[in-house]
Amino acid sequence: MKFKIVDRDATNVRADYEIRFIINDDLTNCTDRELLKFSGFEKGSVCNLASARRIYVSIKDTSPETLRIAISKALKVLSGYRIKSVKMPHISSPAVSVGGTEAAMEEIEAALSAIAEGFELSAYSFDEYKTDSKPCTIEEVYVSVTGCDKVRAEAALKRGRIIAEATNYVRDIVNEIPQVYTPQRMVADAQKLAESYYTVKCQDYGKDYLKAQDMNAFLAVNQASPHGPQLIHLTYKPKKDAELKICFVGKGLTYDSGGLSIKPSTSMYTMKADKSGAAATMGIIKACAEMELPYEVHAVLGVTENMVGSGAYKPDDVLRTRGGVTVEVNNTDAEGRLVLCDCLSWAQDEVKPDYLIDLATLTGACVVGLGDYTSGVIGNNYDFQVAFKKAAELSGENYTVLEFNDHLRPLLDSKVADVRNSVPGGMGGALTAGLFLDKFIKEEYKDKWLHLDIAGPAYVGDAWGYNPAGGTGAGVRGCLYWMLNK
Ligand code: BES
Ligand code: ZN
Ligand code: ZN
Repeated sequence: MKFKIVDRDATNVRADYEIRFIINDDLTNCTDRELLKFSGFEKGSVCNLASARRIYVSIKDTSPETLRIAISKALKVLSGYRIKSVKMPHISSPAVSVGGTEAAMEEIEAALSAIAEGFELSAYSFDEYKTDSKPCTIEEVYVSVTGCDKVRAEAALKRGRIIAEATNYVRDIVNEIPQVYTPQRMVADAQKLAESYYTVKCQDYGKDYLKAQDMNAFLAVNQASPHGPQLIHLTYKPKKDAELKICFVGKGLTYDSGGLSIKPSTSMYTMKADKSGAAATMGIIKACAEMELPYEVHAVLGVTENMVGSGAYKPDDVLRTRGGVTVEVNNTDAEGRLVLCDCLSWAQDEVKPDYLIDLATLTGACVVGLGDYTSGVIGNNYDFQVAFKKAAELSGENYTVLEFNDHLRPLLDSKVADVRNSVPGGMGGALTAGLFLDKFIKEEYKDKWLHLDIAGPAYVGDAWGYNPAGGTGAGVRGCLYWMLNK
């Protein structure tokens, strides 16, 4: 999709369709007032005047998330229409229409980014395996903005487009089916990413390297899979020297059957989405390269399947991890933390970042606790957790800070090893999983590390807002907004 700022009134712009917003039910300056009143237009309404090629959406305010959702409502009504171009009016809230002041300009920029995101995210569909599909036909969006800096306005639209395209790129990876999307396919995609941007480099490591590195927890999870494990390292380096080095670590389970502690069939379904954390880190790198962010950004992806078979790792096994900590396996379905502990250890030693953030669909407990719409922000540094939550929420994603406490720590004690990989009963499961990872965070990284449990929002069974059913790209927008607001 192409987004263009037009610095004149929308009435003078030619487009196939027009989307207009009405704040609440205030129809004072609306040319279609009588028609809308006649149709019973009120707060929350969407009214499509098809013969006029115009659709009205009632919005409660002009906040970025309201705009994204409003656009998704309009596109839902217009799905199936063969529209090539859409025009949007000047957003008519006094707060964003004044122009002139810096604060007002920033508000306009946030609104414009959100508009681009709203279109791109809502227009997404995964049609790979549908014989008959009707993808969205919109190619051009004109946004009418007057009385403000056009260069900045265009940059804001571009930023929104980049962020949303990166999210859609991740959705494609998450939605791709497990017989196709193997760890080797993820390597191929990561290499393609590096070929597309000269600022991005990709290195991939297979079984032999993992053995040499003593990454025995990661290797154990892979044991029953016909596809070898892959550690992928993507690096984005800006043209000028970077001020900061940020490292994202992603859980990349291309399939999680649970292993010998096998999942019930209803829970196993959708576990192709257990690669969402790793996929998100790829999207983050893509967007960093396109936005030319001034930070050095790394992505470390731990990629494997968790399968069953005669060679599978077992409950009762003890694994010696890369850092030397021994882990008693009491549940093979708590595999994500086994992959991540070795990857986090590797990232600290090999990347030495200023910030270390892992993204993982780690626990069902996080979904039970927070629901389908919220990710958990876990770590030792409360100020960092809160700062991340605040910045990330500008993206429209929801985050909640979860705090460790010392009572939970002994629950990970093992009678035969340094630590066990799960706590029977599962109480406080999102936090105990976080505490397991914390065992692998060195003292000097304790305050620099965050663990994001994206198990709830990463994959949705039923569409909501601008998320079609399936992979959502959770974590991408949150992490990008956090970096943009640093
Ligand atoms: N991949 C799952 C977590 C998950 C559950 C993600 C639901 C998305 C939706 C993870 O590997 C897992 O199975 N965790 C176990 C841990 C338990 C055995 C301690 C869980 O949450 O049940
Ligand atoms: Zn699992
Ligand atoms: Zn898993």
